[in-house]
Amino acid sequence: MKRRLKNILVTGGAGFIGTNFIHYLFKNKFFEGIIVNIDKITYAGNLENLRDVEQRFGGERYFFEKADINDFDKIKAIFDGYEIDTVVHFAAESHVDRSLHGPKEFLHTNVMGTFNLLEVARKCWTGEEKKKKLFHHISTDEVYGSTKEMKYFLESTAYQPNSPYSASKACSDHLARVFYKTYGLPVTISNCSNNYGPYQFPEKLVPLMILNILDEKILPVYGDGKNVRDWLYVEDHCSAIWKILNQGKIGETYNIGGENEWENIRLVHFLCEKIGQLNGKDKDYYNKLITFVKDRPGHDRRYAINCDKIKQELGWKQEVDVEEGLEMTVKWYMNNPEWVDRVKSGEYKNWIKKNYKMR
Ligand code: NAD
Ligand code: DAU
Repeated sequence: MKRRLKNILVTGGAGFIGTNFIHYLFKNKFFEGIIVNIDKITYAGNLENLRDVEQRFGGERYFFEKADINDFDKIKAIFDGYEIDTVVHFAAESHVDRSLHGPKEFLHTNVMGTFNLLEVARKCWTGEEKKKKLFHHISTDEVYGSTKEMKYFLESTAYQPNSPYSASKACSDHLARVFYKTYGLPVTISNCSNNYGPYQFPEKLVPLMILNILDEKILPVYGDGKNVRDWLYVEDHCSAIWKILNQGKIGETYNIGGENEWENIRLVHFLCEKIGQLNGKDKDYYNKLITFVKDRPGHDRRYAINCDKIKQELGWKQEVDVEEGLEMTVKWYMNNPEWVDRVKSGEYKNWIKKNYKMR
């Protein structure tokens, strides 16, 4: 049976996946409700991503509220004010390398912030009405740690996080589960593999490599480049979340993955060759930029997701072939040099002040 989703609170909607999720809902006609996007606008949040949504739907079906998920009173007022019935919780500190240098912010946002949001939901959603609500918590396959060849993460795989980022996400998953078990809060959780696509902040592997290739800068590959990640086009992640919101079973966890396991070095070679083709360069022209650098401490060797459960139970599947998705992503970055310049220079914060009227 499908749920009725009316007033959706998206946290972290100005970040990479949140932005794509909001676009996905407004692009497809199946969603008729409203979206309230709350975001603190850290370095990773960029409201410019949603300018078109704001122009078309702002004040009617789309609302932005600048807020920290740790601010109980403000979040509660938003819950009450917009009569929120569904939460899609993306907001997080998301970059592993940053978590190695400064773990505290990760605990503050990912653990305490998630706890705070769950508390607000618990206080606001009471009685019989609670049954009609849903708190969907977005998480990562990194909570499972690293896996050996031919082994895959299942929803039942024991958690074994290896970075401050994944430890903080693991903790937030446990809290979400506890709120379901102890307080009966209607919670679902998803653990997804590496996403790529438009609007990703260029600290992550795919956009960093694309932009460095275009600028002919070095391409820093950690360790021996043979670490494996499972790549999923961001819109396929969005469609999986939409399936869970509509049909997911309360209290359940769903793994989401691309089933595209690539060694990092293969991905970097692919991007070099693809951009070479598009720029009319020799096939190997950009490979000379590849530079093997010191490994990331605690670097997980391999992530590999088994996502049979969401496929079999909810009928989800990936639509985008990885090579096509990477090509679309390369073209998006090539076609949006102004976005890239502003994000890289940090100038977008000023741009927002000038061009975007905050409510
Ligand atoms: P992102 O870093 O691009 O965006 C995070 C957003 O959260 C930003 O807009 C930021 O301003 C906002 N934010 C941060 N702290 C906040 C706070 N205290 N209050 C309110 N807003 C705050 O991250 P992303 O890559 O879009 O990831 C979104 C979610 O998906 C995260 O929970 C992440 O753990 C999870 N995830 C990401 C991937 C991936 O490959 N990127 C894969 C699996 C799961
Ligand atoms: O698996 C899901 C996770 O994927 C998400 O939970 C995280 O939010 C997201 O950041 C991502 O984590 P990774 O650490 O896998 O992504 P990142 O893009 O940082 O790195 C991908 C791989 O590439 C990893 O093995 C490290 C390597 N790498 C990364 C960078 C930035 C390099 O070799 N060089 C680099 O410069």
